[in-house]
Amino acid sequence: MQLNSKGKSSHRLERYNELTGAVINDQNRQKMADSEIKKNVALDCGWGKLIFGQTFDDHDALVDQLINERKSCRDIAIYIRDHHVLISKAPELLFVDPSDTYRFWLHLYRPPKRRSRAFTVRLLQDRRDAEAINRIYRKCGMFEAPEDTILENQRTRIFCYYLAERVSDGEVIGTISGIDHKLAFNDPTNGSSFWCLSVDPDAQAKGVGRTLVREVAEHFIARGRDYLDLSVMHDNRRAKILYHKMGFRQVPVYAVKRKNEVNRELYLGGPKP
Ligand SMILES: CC(C)(COP(=O)(O)OP(=O)(O)OC[C@H]1O[C@@H](n2cnc3c(N)ncnc32)[C@H](O)[C@@H]1OP(=O)(O)O)[C@@H](O)C(=O)NCCC(=O)NCCS
Repeated sequence: MQLNSKGKSSHRLERYNELTGAVINDQNRQKMADSEIKKNVALDCGWGKLIFGQTFDDHDALVDQLINERKSCRDIAIYIRDHHVLISKAPELLFVDPSDTYRFWLHLYRPPKRRSRAFTVRLLQDRRDAEAINRIYRKCGMFEAPEDTILENQRTRIFCYYLAERVSDGEVIGTISGIDHKLAFNDPTNGSSFWCLSVDPDAQAKGVGRTLVREVAEHFIARGRDYLDLSVMHDNRRAKILYHKMGFRQVPVYAVKRKNEVNRELYLGGPKP
């Protein structure tokens, strides 16, 4: 093909460049920046950092991030490219978490026919709510999070903390936190996830867990996200039954954690002798 400044071929080439963004002009540079994934993203969830493995270009930076875990925290790195290679970089310090990742494609969501009248679901509002969250985490044997961190996170659009409140006495009986991956790191797969679903064992209401998951699903549908992920311990039968019934399916996504005292049971296969 002959290229000349005035001919048809030149016009076609210009058009091609315009469509594909092959010419790096200011406009295209801006478009590329808008679509670029943010680098080395780790969100402080209070109980530990949620590290997005796909935002790390090299495993060494990810190892650094994991080994610099704060004391008494449980960081988790997920969506890691080649988790086996990551482990090989520091096998004495890291392990593959025995949790499974489940995904729900949000276009499949159908609203419930009926909603419980025993409780309502709402967004976290204040410190008392953050304290109520920690009360439920404690009762469920989960890691607590500083109330300040919960409140700071709720002020961002990346996080959303929902609570279930019993109608009869206003008691908080369940909690869930959602994370918008698009806002967190410009996720090219347009995903979202939820963490720390927990229901007070003395809730005296049925369907709290299911309703909280639905609320987060509806939150991310409204944002235009494509899917909702979660991570669940491989042997958490009760939670897995719930997720299966709701249409979540397992995906080949693995998480890595740091070997430390609080994670001991997860990599040694049982309690301390
Ligand atoms: C898992 C958990 C969130 C479920 O919440 P919940 O309010 O009890 O669940 P729901 O009442 O919404 O029940 C939904 C489904 O779970 C299943 N389920 C509930 N209780 C169950 C039980 N005792 N045994 C087996 N399955 C059970 C049922 O299939 C139920 O569906 P159905 O109503 O059609 O029968 C709750 O048990 C919990 O907080 N567990 C501790 C923390 C935890 O493990 N969180 C999950 C982290 S990934």
